[in-house]
Amino acid sequence: MIIFNRNRRLRTTQAIRDLIRETTLTTDDFMLPIFISEGKNIKKAISSMPGIYRHSLDLTIKEVKELWSLGIKAVNIYVKVDDKLKDNTGKEAWNPDGLMQQTIKAIKDTVPEMVVMPDVALDPYSIYGHDGIVENNEILNDETVDALVKMSLSHAAAGADFIAPSDMMDGRVAAIREALEENGFQNVGIMSYAAKYASSFYGPFRDALDSAPGFGDKKTYQMDFCNAREAINETLRDIDEGADIVMVKPGQAYLDIVARLYEIVDVPISVYQVSGEYAMIKAAAQNGWLDNDKAIIESLTCIKRSGASLISTYFAKEAAKLLNG
Ligand code: PBG
Repeated sequence: MIIFNRNRRLRTTQAIRDLIRETTLTTDDFMLPIFISEGKNIKKAISSMPGIYRHSLDLTIKEVKELWSLGIKAVNIYVKVDDKLKDNTGKEAWNPDGLMQQTIKAIKDTVPEMVVMPDVALDPYSIYGHDGIVENNEILNDETVDALVKMSLSHAAAGADFIAPSDMMDGRVAAIREALEENGFQNVGIMSYAAKYASSFYGPFRDALDSAPGFGDKKTYQMDFCNAREAINETLRDIDEGADIVMVKPGQAYLDIVARLYEIVDVPISVYQVSGEYAMIKAAAQNGWLDNDKAIIESLTCIKRSGASLISTYFAKEAAKLLNG
């Protein structure tokens, strides 16, 4: 049989496969989401995310040194806020001495090169578990944007490198950018959660922060998973408003969105491999149904292949160890 295009020739040996490889995953691609709680010497396991913990600040500092030594260059910070500090205004979110602000400072003091990207949204601070201020069961847009601006300025003052709004309010990127410029934070960037879908894959994260919405769902601000063109619109708006990096979230089931954006936008795209994606791989691996290490590397490499420059992943530490050999 004469076959002119034997595609298998390029798969014959590992060396050939290495030579023609299109995508190479490295620790430079990773951001690690970290969960922080009040207290000292606390390391609390999150049952729906085996291997992931909520740490108090003292232990977080140790952890961050280790992350840096593994080659992880960025952290996304999420705090668990005491119930007594929650209300409907979210005002604890811009307390200059709040847990988030202390965490940002402490990490920058310990590992100044670490890129610190605190989450901006009101849900951990909200008695309703919603990302914004609530009135008559509605999540108010403009009032929430004012709160997010205060929150962002307090993060910048604490030393954040990037503000990372995950709330999906309209107009918040422009408002945050303007406030940063006006207050001398020209070099603080914005990584906007530009195309963030209302997703069932956030379940374990809400366990970690005890931040599940108290009523309803987040469909009036997060996107409908049936839509792709809307994601392009959202993302282009955020870029116009001054976003330096745009995020698609979740990852695995949404890589078509990443691939489409990659063709259209010229800013770096980040992807959030969310808590539910982590939990699925971990649960299957714990049952012996798939190979933990291979599934981690494959899932992350495929996210990169789709067009992501940065990947926020709970596997960052494990993957760094695998890649470092
Ligand atoms: C909330 C926020 C969520 C996540 C990141 N920021 C949850 C939500 O929108 O309800 C989810 C991350 C994950 O599942 O890993 N602003």
